[in-house]
Amino acid sequence: MASPDPGGPVTRLGGVEQTRTLTPRTAVVWAVLRAELDRRAGEQLTVLDVGGGTGGFAVPLAEAGHRVTVVDASPDALAALTRRAAEAGVAARVRAIQGDGDALAGLVEPATVDLVLCHSVLEVVDDPAPVAAALVAALRPGGAASVLVAGRAAAVLARAMNGHLDVAAALAADPNGSAGPRDTLRRRYDADDAAALLTAAGLAVEEIHGVRVLADLLPAAVADGQPAALVELERALAARPPYRDLAAQLHLFARRPA
Ligand SMILES: C[S@@+](CC[C@H](N)C(=O)[O-])C[C@H]1O[C@@H](n2cnc3c(N)ncnc32)[C@H](O)[C@@H]1O
Repeated sequence: MASPDPGGPVTRLGGVEQTRTLTPRTAVVWAVLRAELDRRAGEQLTVLDVGGGTGGFAVPLAEAGHRVTVVDASPDALAALTRRAAEAGVAARVRAIQGDGDALAGLVEPATVDLVLCHSVLEVVDDPAPVAAALVAALRPGGAASVLVAGRAAAVLARAMNGHLDVAAALAADPNGSAGPRDTLRRRYDADDAAALLTAAGLAVEEIHGVRVLADLLPAAVADGQPAALVELERALAARPPYRDLAAQLHLFARRPA
C-alpha cells in the first residue's frame, strides 16, 4: 500500500498515478503523516478526521487505501467531501458524519481509530479540552493524533505589520490569543500551550512543527515565483525554534500511550 506522497507520484490502490502539488500549507503535515503511514505500511488504517471539512486530507488518505471517517459540523462541507471522494473513486472508503467534535463518543466506537486528524478546529470550538479528550478516547492505544492549530505569535506579528497595533496588542495580551469578539478565531496557541492541551488529555506529544513559517510573510511574487524553493525552506525551518514558533500554524503529532 502506498502512502500519500505530496512530493511526487501518489499510487492509489488501483495503481492509478497522480501528482500532488506540494504547498507550504500541506507539505510539512504530509511529511509527518507519511512517516506514520510508512511505519504502518501494509496495514489498512482506520482514520478519523474531526472537522475534516471538504476532505483535503481525508480523500488522499482514502486514495492510499485507508478507511476514513470525517466528522464535521457543516453539511455543506460534507457534501463537497462526498463529491470529491466520488470523483477520486474512493467513496466506498470515505464515511461522512455530521456531528460535533466533542460528541465523538456517540458517533465513533471508542478505541477503534489508528490515526485521528484534527486540523484547524481546536481554535474554533467552544471548549478545546473535551474535543481533545474525545480524540484520545477514539484512538486505540498506540494510535496517533495529528493536530493543527493556529499560532499566536504569527497572528500578533501579522496584525502589527499590517499597521493594526491595537489589535496586535489585544491579541498578545489575551490569555487565549484572540483579538476579541470580532476575531474569527476563539483562541490561538503557543507550542507549549498546545502541547499542554494534548498532554492533559492523555496524549504523548512526539513532534511539533511550524506550518507556514515564511509563506504568509513573503510578497506574492516571491511565494508564487519560487514555490519549490519556498516549500523546501519551510520544511527546513519547520522543526527549528525560533522559526517554528513564529509559524502561522503549529502541527503536533502525538500518540495515545500503548
Ligand atoms: C477551517 S476548517 C478546516 C477543515 C480541514 N480540517 C482542513 O484543515 O482543511 C474547520 C472545519 O471544522 C468544522 N467544525 C467547526 N467546529 C466544529 C465542531 N465543533 N465539530 C466538528 N466540526 C467542526 C467546520 O465545519 C470546518 O469544516
